[in-house]
Amino acid sequence: MTTRRLVTNPFAAPEAVAPPADAGAVVPRAFHQSLPGYAPTPLPPLPAAAEALGVRAVWLKDESERIGTPSFKILGASWATCRVLADWLGVEIAEVADFALLRAKLTAAVEQTGRPLALAAATDGNHGRAVAIMARLLGLSARIFVPADMVAERIAAIESEGAAVEVVDGGYDDAIRRSAEVAGPDVLVVSDTSWEGYTEPPAWVIDGYSTMMAEVHEAIAAGEADEPTVIAAQIGVGAFAAAVVRGFARPQGPRLIGVEPTLADCVTVSIERGELTEIPGPQTSIMAGLNCGTPSQIAWPDMQQASTPSPPPPTTMPARRCGCSLVMVWSPVRVGRPVPPGCSLIVTHSVSPATMSSSSSRPKAPLIRRRMRRSCVQAPTTTPPPRVRLRGR
Ligand SMILES: Cc1ncc(COP(=O)(O)O)c(C=O)c1O
Repeated sequence: MTTRRLVTNPFAAPEAVAPPADAGAVVPRAFHQSLPGYAPTPLPPLPAAAEALGVRAVWLKDESERIGTPSFKILGASWATCRVLADWLGVEIAEVADFALLRAKLTAAVEQTGRPLALAAATDGNHGRAVAIMARLLGLSARIFVPADMVAERIAAIESEGAAVEVVDGGYDDAIRRSAEVAGPDVLVVSDTSWEGYTEPPAWVIDGYSTMMAEVHEAIAAGEADEPTVIAAQIGVGAFAAAVVRGFARPQGPRLIGVEPTLADCVTVSIERGELTEIPGPQTSIMAGLNCGTPSQIAWPDMQQASTPSPPPPTTMPARRCGCSLVMVWSPVRVGRPVPPGCSLIVTHSVSPATMSSSSSRPKAPLIRRRMRRSCVQAPTTTPPPRVRLRGR
């Protein structure tokens, strides 16, 4: 059964959103540019999607290939890793904001201690894999904690990066708790969600995502895309959403739309209640990376402040006569043949994990989710939404 839900954020105050952070003169992008395999990801126009949505144009920030991974998550994981290791080394970030320099200093320091150093993270998606990749690239070990319902192929993908994967009895929040337990001088936790007393690395993860926003702004400045009137982004704990908000929220700026699985709608519920709220699990979206029950504490203020409060967004996409353009900042769809012609990129589907053991499986029971950091928009209501093939986290 399709569920449709629209939540308009009454707390919108785009002028209050923090600008993208940097570390003095050092911006995450400089570090990213030094990573093996870094290149800006494409922002192609999707005319079929625009036609289906009834808008003038749609651009998709296609993150299906990012530094050797199938998601943008490595932008946050790599920058947070760099900053966590700078702290561990006791050096200024400027001294190690280059991958080769970081690796050289780290190798020497680890040798000096005579003890192995590990990175740790909890994940229900791509973040853990990205941390595992960083550990491998830096010659460290990695301990990645995953929820009990993580599908075998995702675990295998993390293990293929050389990480030790521990399946936690419970959901994503339980995996987070387990990762926090192992933190110590020789086990550095690089989490993309925050909790009481643990806020810096998740903030650095958000900072790391700013590289993607910079790329979008550059593409717009270069005339490769128009200034958008709507930006849509998916939400798990909200770290990515916070980065999108920081990159684009401004008075009279584009409408920001957050998209959540219906059954993992912790930010939508938080917006509705006016306070950060943990929802009961289990969360069962086909997109495991969005199966989160608790918004990130540090991402929450930006999500709460980001969108324009009034007039409320339309319950369908903006009408053709508006001539608006829309940018999907990221989508789990791969641009190309797997995208059904005429698909609506702003509509995603959620099904139980049991239906997604194969990456080619299609949602059997689409649940529309969408939500917003300020305003949540639901899909048109009378016809079933077009299906979009989801790729993993
Ligand atoms: C591709 C992708 N998009 C979105 C998310 C959710 O990001 P966040 O938890 O920062 O909201 C994830 C999480 O793993 C992901 O892998």
